[in-house]
Parts: sequence; C-alpha cells; structure tokens
Amino acid sequence: MTVIRRDPHAPHCPPIDRERELIHVDCASHTYPDGSVGIHGMCFSVLKNEIVALCGPNGSGKSTLIEHLNGILTPSEGEIWVNGRSITGGEQSDLWKEVGVVFQRSDDQLFAPTVLDDVMFGPLNMGMPVDEAKVAAMRALEAVGAADLVHKLPNYLSGGQKRLVSIAGILAMKPKVIALDEPTSDLDPVHSERIETLITGLRERFSISVVIATHDLDFAARVADRICLVKNGSVFAEGTPAEVFYDPALIADAGLKVPQVVRVYLEYCALHGIEPHDHPIRLEELLFVLRKNPKG
Ligand SMILES: Nc1ncnc2c1ncn2[C@@H]1O[C@H](COP(=O)(O)OP(=O)(O)OP(=O)(O)O)[C@@H](O)[C@H]1O
Ligand SMILES: [Mg+2]
Repeated sequence: MTVIRRDPHAPHCPPIDRERELIHVDCASHTYPDGSVGIHGMCFSVLKNEIVALCGPNGSGKSTLIEHLNGILTPSEGEIWVNGRSITGGEQSDLWKEVGVVFQRSDDQLFAPTVLDDVMFGPLNMGMPVDEAKVAAMRALEAVGAADLVHKLPNYLSGGQKRLVSIAGILAMKPKVIALDEPTSDLDPVHSERIETLITGLRERFSISVVIATHDLDFAARVADRICLVKNGSVFAEGTPAEVFYDPALIADAGLKVPQVVRVYLEYCALHGIEPHDHPIRLEELLFVLRKNPKG
C-alpha cells in the first residue's frame, strides 16, 4: 500500500478492494440542523478482517462518520453501503446487528438499571434466550475486565468503567464491524492495554472488522492496518501506519503530531546523522532498531 491522497473534488471515491469491502461510504456529506458541517465529501471503506483508524483533529468529523456507519445519522448527500446493501434509502432496521458503535460519550449509550441489564440488552433484542444473553453479557464483561461491575448501577460508574461497560455491550452482540469512538479515553494504562489486546483479538478470533477514532496516535499505529487521516469532514489521505506516520509533512497537513515512537526514532536519526530507513511503529520495533545500531 502507498499513501493515497484523495482529490476533494473527485466525484467518487477511489475503489480499494470491492470484493472485501464491508462498508463503503461514497462521498457522503452531513450538515447538522444548526448548519454545522459534520462530514463533507467523505469517502471511507472498511474491508473484511481489517482494523482501520480514523485520525484527525477535534471537530474534523470522525464521530459524525462513525454515527453514519449504523444509521444513527444519514447522509444528506452521497451513499453508504454496508455488507453490499445501500443503507441510504432508509433500509436500516437491522443495521445495528451488523455494525456496533461504541459512542464517544458513554452516557449516550448506558441506560438500563444495572450493568448486567445494559450489556444483556443487545443480545436479548437480537432474540437470544435470557440464559444465553446472560452468558454472552458475562463473557463480554470479562473480556473488557469489568466482570466485577456486573451488579452496579451504570449511573454511578466512573468514566473509565462506563467506557468498559459500553464496549462490553457492543461486544456481546458480536457484530461484523465494531466502531469504537475514542475507546481508550478515560482508561488507565492497564485497561487501555486490555482494550488494545481485545481489538486485535476480535479480528484474529472472530474475524470482526474494527474502526477506531482516536487521538492516541501511538495506539492507532500499533493496532491499525490502515490509517485514514480526517480533515474538514473528509478522509484526505490513507495508508499503512508506517507510510502515514513516517511522512511528517502529511501529518502536519492533517493538523496532528507524529506518534512518540516515530518522533524518538526520527530525533535519534537526526542526532546521529543516520538516514531513517527503518520505520519502527511499536516500542519493541524501536528498541530492536536502536539495539542493532552501533551508535545506540
Ligand atoms: N449534534 C451536533 N450539532 C451541531 N453540530 C455538530 C453536532 N455534532 C457535531 N457537530 C459539528 O460537526 C463537526 C464534526 O464534529 P465531530 O464530533 O464529528 O468531530 P470529531 O472529529 O469527532 O471531533 P473530536 O475529536 O473532538 O471528537 C464539528 O464542527 C462539530 O461542531
Ligand atoms: Mg469525536
């Protein structure tokens, strides 16, 4: 893959891999009732078995895009396909079974009297018998490290606990695609790592595709196959983490800062007069590159 830069005036999105596409957003625009532009000419796709990260500054349109993926919002222009069917014309009734969205604000998601009721709600709504729904809910809570919260009242949970329960509620339904909006915000490092392992495990164990919107670029670099840079309501460039994050001009153009690992490596190379040929993305890759370098 090389970095693809999108022409904002092109009438359609460049096809990526139609055979493997689970979600295809074709030049979608959404203007909120107060006139604010949420997304504009947005082109985006998610392939089967893929982890995609949306990275962009505050207000660039990441959450608005995510809310289009399971029909919470509909585009005023453009079209959206999920699993081969267009969802733009109002055919969205069962969409939540295919695409699960974990909201940026957990309070928008949690509503039931107890954590268990909340996490069981999705599976029950899908027609699962109560016993099975309870097992699915407990498994999902265990997966996110929140089984001890099962009998608590969602209202009284901490911000991080609410996020874990929200993620469990979506996991329990096992949709084909899970979109997580800022999944690690509010979480301590231990729970963040748990969510990171969970996201990669979802793909490996259940072939679930994952979309994440995040400001944590090191996290995005570690988990994603593809980084989509979002600016002014559209994806303007995309590529692998190494391609995108080792293009400092592109990152500056996106209004972002390069991940810490990339910054350390580039500064190390500059300090020792080395050409930055290696492109470490993970901490262990950085350590490997530094160790093999005699100047280290
Ligand atoms: N409900 C709404 N009503 C009006 N404008 C909105 C609404 N939600 C979002 N917007 C506007 O749409 C634009 C995109 O917002 P969005 O929340 O999608 O950005 P974001 O990339 O998710 O930002 P952040 O990183 O801060 O979460 C912003 O200008 C925002 O003010
Ligand atoms: Mg957002």
